[in-house]
Amino acid sequence: MSQSAPDLFDKIVNLSKRRGIVFPSAEIYGGFRSTYDYGPVGVLMLRNVKEAWWRSMVQLRSDVVGLDASILSPPAIWEASGHLANFTDPLVDCRNCGARHRQDKLDDPDVCPTCGMRGQFTEPRHFNLMFKTQAGPVEDDGAVAYLRPETAQGMFINFANVINTSRKKPPLGIAQIGKSFRNEITPGNFVFRTREFEQMELEFFVPPAEADQWYEYWCAERLQWYIDHGIDESKLRLRPHGPDELSHYSSGTSDVEFDFPWGWDELEGIANRGSYDLDQHMAHSGQKLEYFDQAANERYVPHVIEPAAGATRTMMAFLMAAYDDEIVNDETRTVLRLHPRIAPYKAAVLPLSKKPELTGPARDLLAELQPRWMVDYDETQAIGRRYRRQDEIGTPYCITYDFDSLEDKAVTIRDRDSMDQVRLPIAEVGDWLAERLS
Ligand code: GAP
Repeated sequence: MSQSAPDLFDKIVNLSKRRGIVFPSAEIYGGFRSTYDYGPVGVLMLRNVKEAWWRSMVQLRSDVVGLDASILSPPAIWEASGHLANFTDPLVDCRNCGARHRQDKLDDPDVCPTCGMRGQFTEPRHFNLMFKTQAGPVEDDGAVAYLRPETAQGMFINFANVINTSRKKPPLGIAQIGKSFRNEITPGNFVFRTREFEQMELEFFVPPAEADQWYEYWCAERLQWYIDHGIDESKLRLRPHGPDELSHYSSGTSDVEFDFPWGWDELEGIANRGSYDLDQHMAHSGQKLEYFDQAANERYVPHVIEPAAGATRTMMAFLMAAYDDEIVNDETRTVLRLHPRIAPYKAAVLPLSKKPELTGPARDLLAELQPRWMVDYDETQAIGRRYRRQDEIGTPYCITYDFDSLEDKAVTIRDRDSMDQVRLPIAEVGDWLAERLS
């Protein structure tokens, strides 16, 4: 069933709350400004998004290695990267109503969208988005630390460590998944823009002459990743940045955009960063961050292609792309048609009744499947309602253990999308699932 845009947004927010996907944070204290907690179902989905990214970007490649760098970082890194000087948003206050806005996001730079007054804005102030804190008990300049606003710098400052220890040479990528923090002026649209979020970033170091071809390669590869994980091609596009949009480090950037309820918006940026970051860190640290190509007897500073995605934002896009309401027997069935790799649970075991003669063997089957997959178990309520609950959280297969199972040692497996059912010997369930979930 086609969804109207505002409807879909509200439905996702409601479903997230109702089914334990995403909760507003600190709710018992009245909430805390656009922060969110991932519930029992959401945490599984978020892990699957990150795992799917890691599988494609690290596990299935021999030219990418992983990293997990620290979040707390000294000012020197951000001085060198340009974030202390440039990572700012222009902030204006309305003198009439006191509302605060990002000047670059206003439809009309003279009109306050809150009260409608023209010409009441203050001069723009450049507001740095980094969270500043202090490391240790003494508050002096030497104790200043920042929460990283991107994971990327961890890869640049470790470039020499990785090259010297991994026995690999460019083209070589370093990949990282982790939390980043930005003091966004206008967080919003649920988990689309938050102050604390997770990124999935690859810094791909290449010989300078190969940079353009690798940039094209990663643009195509990253767009395809979303399609391969279940988002319809019509909901995705690749949009090259105009010259006035480029970040301070980038000589070329394209965004993978998703058709969100409020319009096309960024899921991921793929940037050709040149040698900007390594040059900056060499200049500021005095360390050599070059690669010596023995075969060519040539020393060079690699150029970097960076596909930078948001895990939390991507999860939201997967939810929106998968959401469907359909009419079945005069009732609305809500179903998340998630790719099996992204689905929080891969299967659910549902004994037809709560009688121990059924729940005992059903739990045995659950125990057999659990080492291989996240499998849910539910023995309460009528079977129809239990199916609906699993549909709403995107579980691809429901396995029903009924009274006949005691005799024929078989179970019924119901497909989430078609609702078709097959009867299968219990001994074959593991292999049957493995074929469909890989
Ligand atoms: N290292 C480059 C970099 O960080 P970015 O475009 O600022 O580039 C990359 O961020 C991705 O991180 C974005 O495409 C988005 O998916 C995610 N992201 C950025 N800011 C975010 C925020 N405030 N909330 C949620 N996700 C965010």
